[in-house]
Amino acid sequence: MQDWLKNTVFYEIYPQSFLDTNGDGIGDFKGIIEKLDYIKDLGCNAIWMNPCYDSPFMDAGYDVRDYNKCAQRYGTNEDLRALFEEAHKKEMYIILDLVPGHTSDQHAWFQMSCEPEHNEYTNRYIWTENLWDAPNDYRFVCGTTDHDGNYMVNFFSSQPALNYGFHEITHKWQLPVDHPDCMATREALKSIMKFWLDLGCDGFRVDMADSLVKNDDDKIATMALWKNITEEIHKEYPKAVLVSEWSCPRRALGCGFDVDFYLDHNGHGYHSLFRNIDENGQNKSFFSKEGKGDATSFIGEYMEDLKATADHGYISFITCNHDTPRMSKWLDERELKIAYATILTLPGVPFLYYGDEIGMPFREGLTSKEGGFSRTGTRTPMQWNTDKNCGFSSSETPYLPTGKPGETVCVQQEEKRQDSLYQMVKEIIACRHEYADLQADGSFSVLYVEKDKYPFIYQRGNLIVMVNPSSDCVEVEVCVKQVSRESIFKIGEVTLHDQKAKMGSQSFAIYKMN
Ligand code: NOJ
Ligand code: CA
Repeated sequence: MQDWLKNTVFYEIYPQSFLDTNGDGIGDFKGIIEKLDYIKDLGCNAIWMNPCYDSPFMDAGYDVRDYNKCAQRYGTNEDLRALFEEAHKKEMYIILDLVPGHTSDQHAWFQMSCEPEHNEYTNRYIWTENLWDAPNDYRFVCGTTDHDGNYMVNFFSSQPALNYGFHEITHKWQLPVDHPDCMATREALKSIMKFWLDLGCDGFRVDMADSLVKNDDDKIATMALWKNITEEIHKEYPKAVLVSEWSCPRRALGCGFDVDFYLDHNGHGYHSLFRNIDENGQNKSFFSKEGKGDATSFIGEYMEDLKATADHGYISFITCNHDTPRMSKWLDERELKIAYATILTLPGVPFLYYGDEIGMPFREGLTSKEGGFSRTGTRTPMQWNTDKNCGFSSSETPYLPTGKPGETVCVQQEEKRQDSLYQMVKEIIACRHEYADLQADGSFSVLYVEKDKYPFIYQRGNLIVMVNPSSDCVEVEVCVKQVSRESIFKIGEVTLHDQKAKMGSQSFAIYKMN
């Protein structure tokens, strides 16, 4: 685990939507450089930037055409190096998005792989025996190339799966993980990682990290593969950080990732916290003021994961990401404050999605952009001020529309408005930086959580964190040592005396034990 993660709050940037400095309607590296001070001032000291490589953008850049070249629209490799350098000067870190599972169908490897004659790249992708051999377990595409076979896809049809081999072999065209051609794919991936680390990035968020080896239900071979890669990278680049999109911390941290995200998958305990809308449209999120939520299923899973992964790495909570509707779709400002305050006081490494600090809306009804589909509304340009396109771009055709300047929320106004969500986010992050107990490694134990009840109270080292998102006042007993009279952070009305916690409607507080 890298030392610098202990006190890190990440800021996720979807580069096409952050700040456009040359008026072409698309955000760029220079725009991010311009806003480094803004991000640092908010308290975030690291950035995860979504894919910025050459791409036809059928999936917003998760369809890479050239792994070693930046997309022209964002800038050159040298501009990206400048971004790394500027960030480092400000003692900030920046990780790139690594897409190991698939490429664009326009990648030179795939073009070669599609040739009818066998060549060095034929097995870089997964082809069935011949065109008529069409299995129905994974997804395949057929008849679009001269190669006599179906190719497996990892996501959209334009994203052929790279071949790292099969764990269980059920057909003769499936190669074992240690086949020289599959090993070559793995080595190619390591070279890509080293290329960007040498240019100055601080690590990677790894897309669909669990997807590499096929027919590997228990992920045994996928974990072994990652163990090999993470060990090599960590050895050669001791400060590099690897964050997995896996949402299974025991597996991900068990094979050398430093951080794994908890993602909002239906049915997970985590899902019950923020975006849990039932079939009848009722908001069952724990953070809704309706008070119909339940934190116990989350806590049950989380405590187990935390115990099983202690000392191996961190679990990461996100406010949102580019794949998920912003919480502001269902939660109002006060609800968001309590939800974020919780995320930012849990152990591990938190990630704040750009614009969430001002409660940017999820924009409904947009036509899909670059493979965004239902995710498009979460990817709209950052709303900086009341100028044209909310200060994002001077273009007549911005990447996606912003809200109406002056009518929709923007940074300029939220920075000034007393008690804004932005102010609160800044304050709670400052608190996290001030108290080591609130940081990644600080201990965590639950003091109060009951099925279908509020509040939720937990201890971080010497601090007590109290959370009541519901609109009801609640009173419970908690077994804690005497705390100082004044809280170190508070939303709403809260008192904690003589082991009695009284929490007003929609409140949150942190107390320090004497
Ligand atoms: C997960 C990424 O977060 C998502 O945006 C992308 O479309 C898929 N992986 C495919 O790469
Ligand atoms: Ca631009």
